[in-house]
Amino acid sequence: MSIDYQQKIPNNVNLAEDRRLQRALEKWQPGYLDWWKGMGPAGTQDFDVYLRTAVSVDAKGWAHFGHVKMPDYRWGIFLAPSEEDRRINFGIHKGDKAWQDVPGEYRAELRRLIVTQGDTEPASVEQQRELGKTCPSLYDLRNLFQVHVEEGRHLWAMVYLLHAHFGRDGREEAEGMLERHAGDADKPRILQAFNEKTNDWLSFYMFTYFQDRDGKYQLAALAESGFDPLSRSCKFMLTEEAHHLFVGETGVQRVVQRTCELMREHRTEDVRKVGGIDLPLIQKYINFHYSICLDLFGSELSTNAANYYSMGLKGRFLETRQNDDHVLKDSAFLVPEVVGDTVHMVEASALNAMNECLRAEYAKDSQRGMDRWNKVIRDAGIDFQLTLPHMGFNRSIGTFAEYHFTPDGKLLNETEWMRRRDEWLPNEEDYAYVATLMGAVTEPGKFANWIAAPARGINNQPVDFEYVRFN
Ligand SMILES: [Fe+2]
Ligand SMILES: [Fe+2]
Repeated sequence: MSIDYQQKIPNNVNLAEDRRLQRALEKWQPGYLDWWKGMGPAGTQDFDVYLRTAVSVDAKGWAHFGHVKMPDYRWGIFLAPSEEDRRINFGIHKGDKAWQDVPGEYRAELRRLIVTQGDTEPASVEQQRELGKTCPSLYDLRNLFQVHVEEGRHLWAMVYLLHAHFGRDGREEAEGMLERHAGDADKPRILQAFNEKTNDWLSFYMFTYFQDRDGKYQLAALAESGFDPLSRSCKFMLTEEAHHLFVGETGVQRVVQRTCELMREHRTEDVRKVGGIDLPLIQKYINFHYSICLDLFGSELSTNAANYYSMGLKGRFLETRQNDDHVLKDSAFLVPEVVGDTVHMVEASALNAMNECLRAEYAKDSQRGMDRWNKVIRDAGIDFQLTLPHMGFNRSIGTFAEYHFTPDGKLLNETEWMRRRDEWLPNEEDYAYVATLMGAVTEPGKFANWIAAPARGINNQPVDFEYVRFN
């Protein structure tokens, strides 16, 4: 299915045939461009960036690469191909035909799901908007901008659904997406992790590894939705998301690799002396990002989540591959509970435990990259292991919100926690140190001292390709 680029808004949803919808979206478009110029990547309007643009939604060869100025990027509306006779695969409507229109009784719930997902997309661009000024290389700068234009496109994906299926409320919600801003005191973004600052590149790689992975799991659960347009939107977003996760995983890996090189070269663990990022500091960043991302999945037990599932709006990760009845009325799932000073896993209704179920998949997936990073450390002959912190560490939502745990799972009282948290989370001094390393490296093929070069370039281009031209 190819995409119509003759239109003002590129799309594969036959927008030209729905004049009203087309007009409404064309009215939203200038506001979006204003947002991009005002809140998107700072000071980049004239840069030519080697970006990929979707030209089809087929699994193979969907992307075209070329230098473009970002405000001219063709943001559009792309849905994955429709599946013939698609059914609702879970919940009380299991077996019914998938909905092409919003079922009236679930309108509020669906709107909320779409708005919450949509809000994270421009939020992450806002959080990272200053990073271009301190890029460690042109290769990395290009990857940052690729992530940004695609998060912008993900906003388009959600705004399309709001405009096409939610009438006036939908249009108002679409406006709201451009009015809330990350970290804004009056109008913050909906989820707290999307109001935190992303001031340095180590944070950016952690963000694309951990936060974008939360995005992957949310999108995967929404891709199971019985509301077919949402499912198809999310399926194509997942294709784009894979690159964001790649940027995160390889980004951290390259930092780890460079740190190991510096440790060996200078025979020291104190790589700060030689301009590197020490492994314990990388661990602190992991502790921070992983813990705030666990919060993104919501409370362990949630009637909202149970309803979303039973209604057929949001499924589990790879729902159809789960070996059960997909209704889960009498099923159980293990959730954590604090008893005395230890954490027990206790059985709860699987329906109520939907958030925990998705979080458990996320936790497993998060470990995979860690294993690869640890291999780099091992191969360098260094005795150090990066780990994911305990699920109770630094949590603000759900069971663990009222407790304090160390990264290895020991319960602490409030005073102890306050006294020791700087051992585990990046403190002012750590951030200040990382900030001293941030300075733009813009010569093709050159990399900042604290990060290794990637194994290969983008789209078969050499590593020293001119990925960004500043003009
Ligand atoms: Fe996204
Ligand atoms: Fe993303």
